[in-house]
Amino acid sequence: MKHIILITGAGKGIGRAIALEFARAIRHHPDFEPVLVLSSRTTADLESISLECRAEGALTDTITADLSNMADVRRLTTHIIEHYGHIDCLVNNAGVGRFGSLSDMSEADFDYIIDTNLKGTFFLTQAMFAMMERQRSGHIFFITSVAATKAFKHSSIYCMSKFGQRGLVETLRLYARKCKVRITDVQPGAVCTPMWGEVSDEMQALMMTPEDIAALVVQAYFQPSRTTVEEIVLRPTGGDLQEE
Ligand SMILES: NC(=O)c1ccc[n+]([C@@H]2O[C@H](COP(=O)([O-])OP(=O)(O)OC[C@H]3O[C@@H](n4cnc5c(N)ncnc54)[C@H](OP(=O)(O)O)[C@@H]3O)[C@@H](O)[C@H]2O)c1
Repeated sequence: MKHIILITGAGKGIGRAIALEFARAIRHHPDFEPVLVLSSRTTADLESISLECRAEGALTDTITADLSNMADVRRLTTHIIEHYGHIDCLVNNAGVGRFGSLSDMSEADFDYIIDTNLKGTFFLTQAMFAMMERQRSGHIFFITSVAATKAFKHSSIYCMSKFGQRGLVETLRLYARKCKVRITDVQPGAVCTPMWGEVSDEMQALMMTPEDIAALVVQAYFQPSRTTVEEIVLRPTGGDLQEE
C-alpha cells in the first residue's frame, strides 16, 4: 500500500536518517510502498538522499523549500495537495539553532530560529493536519528536543522555540484524537549531526547517532493504528552534554 510521507529537513542529520529508515522498512514490511517526499533548502542534499532511498526500492519526490518563507510553505502544501491529494505522515524535523549567552542573541537570531522552528512548522502542520482530519487518518511527528522541557543556558531562543513546538503538539492532540490522527513528540538529547558543526572524537563518543532516533520514529509509525506512541525521549546514556 502506498504511504505518502513528507519529511522536512530530509537532506541532513536526523531527517536524512529517518528518510533512509523508512526506505529500508520495505525489507521488513512487504506491503509497504513509501512515497518519500523529501524537502529542505539544499537541492544537492535532497538528490543524494533520494538516490539512496530509491536504491532501497522507495519512490521519492524532492522539493527544495525554505520553511521560513511562507511562499515556500504554500508551494510545498500545494504540491502535496495537487500531486497526491492525500498524506499519511508528516515528519516535522527541519529546525535550526543559534547558541550563545542571553545577552548575545540578536533580533536576526530570533527571527532565524522562530521563523523556521515555529512559524514554518505551524503553517505546514496546519495545512497537512487539515488533510488528515478530512481523511480521518494520518501521523504527525515533531522532532522537538529535550530542550522542549528543560532549559539550557546557551539556548534561550532555541529552547523557547522547542517549548513552543511542544505547545503546538499538545494543542494539536486535542483535535487529532477526535479524528484518529496520531501525534508523536520525539525529544532527543544530543545527536551527532551537522547542526553541531565540527565535533571532537571525545564529544562524538558522548552523543547519539541520527540512526538511533530514526529507528524509533519508524517503529512508532508501524504500531497498529489503534496505538499512538505519544512521546519518545532519548538521551545519551551518559546524560545531557551540558547540565544547564
Ligand atoms: N542534533 C541534535 O543534537 C538535536 C537534538 C534534539 C533535537 N534536534 C532537532 O532535530 C531536528 C533536526 O536536527 P539535525 O540535528 O538533524 O540538524 P541538521 O543536521 O542541521 O539538519 C537540519 C535539516 O533541516 C533543514 N532545514 C533547516 N532549516 C530549514 C528551513 N528553514 N527550511 C527547510 N529546511 C530547513 C536542513 O537543510 P538545509 O540547511 O539544506 O535547509 C537540514 O536538512 C531539528 O529540529 C533539531 O532542533 C536535534
